[in-house]
Amino acid sequence: MFKLKPVLFCCLSLFASSVLAKSASVDINIDAQHPGAVLNKNIYGQFMEHLGRGIYEGIWVGKNSSIPNKDGFRLDVLQALKELKVPLLRWPGGCFADEYHWRDGIGPRDQRPRTVNSNWGGVIEDNAFGTHEFFEFAELLGAETYVNGNLGTGSPKEMVDWLNYMTSDADTTLVRERKKNGRDKPFKVDYFAIGNESWGCGGNMTPDYYADLYKQYSAFLKAPADNMPKFIASGGTNEQTDWTQTLSDKIKPSWSLRMDAISHHYYTIPTNNWETKGSATGFPKEQWFSALQQTLRIEDFIKQNVAILDKNDPDKKVGFYVDEWGTWYDVDKGTNPGFLYQQNTLRDAIIAGLNIHIFNRYAERVQMTNIAQMVNVLQAMILTDKEKMILTPTYYAFKMHIPFQDATYLPVSLSNIPQYKSGDASIPALSASAAKAQDGNTYISLVNTQLEGAIEVTLDQVKQAKGQLLTSDKMDQHNTFAQPHNIQPSDYSAKVKNGKAVISVPAKSLMVLNLGKI
Ligand code: AHR
Repeated sequence: MFKLKPVLFCCLSLFASSVLAKSASVDINIDAQHPGAVLNKNIYGQFMEHLGRGIYEGIWVGKNSSIPNKDGFRLDVLQALKELKVPLLRWPGGCFADEYHWRDGIGPRDQRPRTVNSNWGGVIEDNAFGTHEFFEFAELLGAETYVNGNLGTGSPKEMVDWLNYMTSDADTTLVRERKKNGRDKPFKVDYFAIGNESWGCGGNMTPDYYADLYKQYSAFLKAPADNMPKFIASGGTNEQTDWTQTLSDKIKPSWSLRMDAISHHYYTIPTNNWETKGSATGFPKEQWFSALQQTLRIEDFIKQNVAILDKNDPDKKVGFYVDEWGTWYDVDKGTNPGFLYQQNTLRDAIIAGLNIHIFNRYAERVQMTNIAQMVNVLQAMILTDKEKMILTPTYYAFKMHIPFQDATYLPVSLSNIPQYKSGDASIPALSASAAKAQDGNTYISLVNTQLEGAIEVTLDQVKQAKGQLLTSDKMDQHNTFAQPHNIQPSDYSAKVKNGKAVISVPAKSLMVLNLGKI
């Protein structure tokens, strides 16, 4: 059991509407005696959709591009994603998935049909990136694969054929076609979803109607035993619980009816208003607070859905996957509104840290999440401008948490949690999550949510306290193509004397520390 004692340094030059937490003595106990679930590495999963410049330019530039590439995949992005140890990729959507016909994306590229991406900007989709390209990319990254099937405009036959094309090794016409297209052995499909946001862009369905369709489609989705994906049902969004309720009432997983997880979506919008969401940069201080406040709401939504599953599925066979989450702002000025391109600041990294802490807490059910989206779309890891590339603060937040992939959760309890107040509202000023990593070391992730005021944490019984710190003087600090290194993590190390370390967690910061083998 380790003890962290945070004490607030309050510099009281505050902005008008916010009040710092009062000095508080808070104990943080890391209960190493009662480890929790393994934090599935796929909690740190990514989402890539045919949307804007997310795939085309962001990942795929084609073999003949002047941008250095390997078989059409741009090398700079590939290298950066390798360093991020991306565990899982979800593709092809999103809303795009329910209008995607997989046959458009196989065969010689110059013969693939040209279609319109009616969800995202109405642009021409030349289908250069399809099934083979997706799996090749995942294999280059060493990532697991999550394919989202088309329920909205497809048919059971189309979906069944796609799964067979990808997974089968039988000498069928479909498999011969795959081989002719250059792939001898089956692709490894780790996860397969039946539809996306079926309550909305996926077909405006009711949970009841969807549950019946799910049962129909899943009855025919077969794959070899050693290449059987986990099947995911499309669930609700935000505060909705009716999808989890209906799906877990009506679908009881058995050998003939597989449902390994229900998905859920939650986006963080600073204003909580889809019409004017707020800006990614140059936002007022109130929107720093409101964005963090909005993001923290996901915990209640997860809790409510997990409570339903705990009742209907006490053996915990069904996971609760948050397969879309992240910040969603007004698009950057001058960009195509259908491309969902936004800058990414220190605030996004803090939000990533807070979400990661929440997902870790519910890791028994939340075995996968996919931040939306990996490159050039919404809360991206990477932004590109033709041949240029920058890494975002969110990229660094994910990189700092690599030791948490497949680590064992260690419960953290905080008493007297300091509060960060704005007007009548308040949020915790400090958030923490700890885990014992595969390397045997214990790691702690700390977030100071306040715009002003470091929090001093005293940590007992540690071997070391070394790691990385991500912060800045500016709340909207971000990297640009002209200045790509405005914000990146710096090394942090606290002295340890008689097993005790004093850590000053700066305002608006994220810190991940290796506490050693304890
Ligand atoms: O991530 C962008 C979109 O958000 C996805 O296509 C859709 O599933 C959600 O509404």
